[in-house]
Amino acid sequence: MPAPLIAIYPGSFDPPTNGHLDLIARGSRLVSQLIVAVLENTQKQPLFSVAERIAMLKEAAGSHANVQVDSFQGLLVDYAAERQAGVILRGIRAVSDYETELQMALLNRRMRPGTETIFLMASEEYSFLSSRMVKEIITLGGDVSHFVPSIVLSRLREKFSKR
Ligand code: PNS
Repeated sequence: MPAPLIAIYPGSFDPPTNGHLDLIARGSRLVSQLIVAVLENTQKQPLFSVAERIAMLKEAAGSHANVQVDSFQGLLVDYAAERQAGVILRGIRAVSDYETELQMALLNRRMRPGTETIFLMASEEYSFLSSRMVKEIITLGGDVSHFVPSIVLSRLREKFSKR
């Protein structure tokens, strides 16, 4: 019998979108345990703190029994080793994602042989969606209610009403 499959779904999730949630739902059906891991990136100035992003992901993805939300610093492969995860899960939206994703998957496998990256094609309705665009639209006063889970919409509205 194959060993239980532990997968990590890493990302910035600033903020989580419906596309991320779709990938979590679909990915969680393929593996024994899915760890959604928020990168603590000291170089980027995020809109939401890591704690805020974790809280939103926990609330939005809380219904999946085999999904955990965590954060990590440093190399993804080191974190994967620490969590005993053999698989990295990533979504691909358009051809433009492919190049970077291929590079990351190959580098990760070179740094930690045996680490496999599983790609899921984004569902058509989310193939145009990104956290960056969500932030841009709301900054310019547009409606993002169709693009993010309700908890994220509330947090975005709070954030932008204070500005
Ligand atoms: O949501 P994003 O910003 O596309 O996610 C990118 C992420 C977090 C998966 C990537 O930047 C990453 O794994 N960073 C951790 C540092 C690392 O391991 N870098 C080498 C990757 S080859």
